Amino acid sequence: MPIPTIYSKDRKVFILDQTLLPLEKKYIQIKDEKEMWEAIKKLRIRGAPAIGIAAAFGIWLGIKDFKGDEIKKFLKRFNDVCDYLATSRPTAVNLFWAIDRIKNLVNKNLELKPEELKDIIFEEANLMIEEDNNVCRAIGCHGVRLIKDGDSLITHCNAGGLATAMYGTALAPMYRAKELGYNIHVWVDETRPLLQGARITAFELVEAKIPATLITDNMAAFVMYQGKVNLAIVGADRIAANGDTANKIGTLALAILSSEFNVPFYIAAPLSTIDLNKSSGEDIPIEERNPDEVIRGFGKQTAPSNIKVYNPAFDVTPARYITGIITEKGIIHPPFEENIKKLF
Ligand code: MRU
Repeated sequence: MPIPTIYSKDRKVFILDQTLLPLEKKYIQIKDEKEMWEAIKKLRIRGAPAIGIAAAFGIWLGIKDFKGDEIKKFLKRFNDVCDYLATSRPTAVNLFWAIDRIKNLVNKNLELKPEELKDIIFEEANLMIEEDNNVCRAIGCHGVRLIKDGDSLITHCNAGGLATAMYGTALAPMYRAKELGYNIHVWVDETRPLLQGARITAFELVEAKIPATLITDNMAAFVMYQGKVNLAIVGADRIAANGDTANKIGTLALAILSSEFNVPFYIAAPLSTIDLNKSSGEDIPIEERNPDEVIRGFGKQTAPSNIKVYNPAFDVTPARYITGIITEKGIIHPPFEENIKKLF
């Protein structure tokens, strides 16, 4: 059974600190919006759906100690906290989706007192966990139809339980396949530079007892050339209206390889990851991260410290490389622009 990424207990919020994986499985309490911002920025909690839920709890943490009845002052504080959390990471649209959802909730309930607004925000954040679990389960049920007993899959980064509330997107069909008793095998891309594949996906698959083999990113081509992969499933941070998909850096390379070696390449993501306001991938903001992640990954220097570094955290896979998008409402096939519109 996958383990929870974020939860609340007695009105306290806890996250699994993913920077410590796979060596330590430690939950830490997040006490205010600043700690939540830092946790998102530093990838203590990461993965598009998970950071959306984290932002919702972050908003609550930021307003829970507001004193007084003045709604105007409350709203000022509330909007400041929302704006602040929105600066934590730019690419995953789920973060903004979650903040907008809480803002809409508050705007629809302006007749309530600050104390009551605090309560409904807290309830909404908890509801997001529940909904995310259902959505991911549905993704698993739709996605498992693509998997046959004996299949060998490949995935990149971590779009497992720890990138969502608990069950994952790209890994959900694999979890479902396991539940159904299929024998499957998963190739896990290590995912440079922050090793979400090695540290988190490998950890999850070992815990779930799904046979898996870790490779460095540059081995995927050879494994595919050897005919050892028959299905690729990855997650998404933002999907544009035309199907172009931003996901962890290295996803594009895997998509191109899949096309070359005739391996079906699927994206698994909730509808909340589709951003109809972005007409194509060119409009998706791509986070650039600290050069140290490349030069001094995990504390060991592996390049001259004065070398210039380019460190985009995500890339965009053009829709033409994507076989289908597995969502909670079913699998979207090309033409994506038309079929995404229909689904909404
Ligand atoms: O930088 P990260 O670890 O947040 O990147 C995560 C990914 O790219 C995931 O594939 C994506 O968010 C989908 S999570 C279900």
